[in-house]
Amino acid sequence: MDKFIQGCMKIKDLPIKDIRAIIDANLENGINVFDHADIYGAGECETVFGKALKEDSSLRDKIFLQTKCGIVKDLSCHRYDNSTNYILDCVHKSLKRLGVEKIDRLLIHRPDALMNPEEVAKAFDRLQGEGLVDRFGVSNFSSSQISLLQSALRQKIECNQVRVSIVHCPMIENGINYNRYNEGGVNRDMGTLDYCRQNGIQIQCYSPYKGTNKSFIGDFKFRKLNKLLKEYAFKYNVEPNAIAAAWLLKHPANFAVINGTTKAERVRQIVKAKDINLTRSEWYELYKVVGRRLP
Ligand SMILES: NC(=O)c1ccc[n+]([C@@H]2O[C@H](COP(=O)([O-])OP(=O)(O)OC[C@H]3O[C@@H](n4cnc5c(N)ncnc54)[C@H](OP(=O)(O)O)[C@@H]3O)[C@@H](O)[C@H]2O)c1
Repeated sequence: MDKFIQGCMKIKDLPIKDIRAIIDANLENGINVFDHADIYGAGECETVFGKALKEDSSLRDKIFLQTKCGIVKDLSCHRYDNSTNYILDCVHKSLKRLGVEKIDRLLIHRPDALMNPEEVAKAFDRLQGEGLVDRFGVSNFSSSQISLLQSALRQKIECNQVRVSIVHCPMIENGINYNRYNEGGVNRDMGTLDYCRQNGIQIQCYSPYKGTNKSFIGDFKFRKLNKLLKEYAFKYNVEPNAIAAAWLLKHPANFAVINGTTKAERVRQIVKAKDINLTRSEWYELYKVVGRRLP
């Protein structure tokens, strides 16, 4: 199972040499999954990544390309669309922008209130049958939405991409606060964490270092968290971002952490989390330091 994925949401303005540096930093550390979406940079992120691939024909075989579709960034009406034709059209456009013949894994980016599972199934069958997409997953889906969609599919839903971090983890909080009248007891997860674990669906954690509108790492608003991250970083001889990643990797669900950094150096810092096994007390201290209480 993947421990890390490189997110490509913010690469649109990077020179190709910097994109190549990120690709290399990941590959050198055994990370080969690169996460895209048709909407990142209005398609520009896939385009510039495609340019980096084009510069070195040996790269494509080393890389596992994941992209997503289903969010419509139409200025007249922001909406979702999981219909057959929409999915097919998106994939053809992503293939063109990336300059590749196949997407390794396609994710439905968000559940569409008007989604008909049979329509998604039709799109997946066509795409797989034509050799355009190998594997499939979802993002921001609840357990029952995954179950509904899976019931119509021949392909396995392999992953669910969800926002999870030390500062944003309703799926973890809810399990600890079951049957309580407090904030943590509000069921925002709807059993999705346990469902994914039971069904071999890997949770891909997005925005693992995001605070309110910027990274919580070094942000004064998260002063106590940063103090603790620094303390553990010193103990394990890493940077604080590696501790934030180690907190996610410690969870027995085998999360994958999607790093959205645009800096190769930060990839090298974060990957050191693979060798860190936080103690249970360290894990719970990080859980609590942002103001949470245990029952
Ligand atoms: N499925 C979905 O709905 C969804 C939604 C959002 C994102 N995603 C995916 O998840 C990926 C990651 O999301 P994200 O970009 O929000 O997450 P992130 O990795 O939590 O945030 C990355 C941002 O934090 C900054 N940062 C500042 N200090 C940092 C430090 N010490 N270490 C690491 N980062 C630091 C980075 O800046 P620098 O670039 O300067 O390092 C970067 O702008 C995206 O690229 C995308 O692939 C999916």
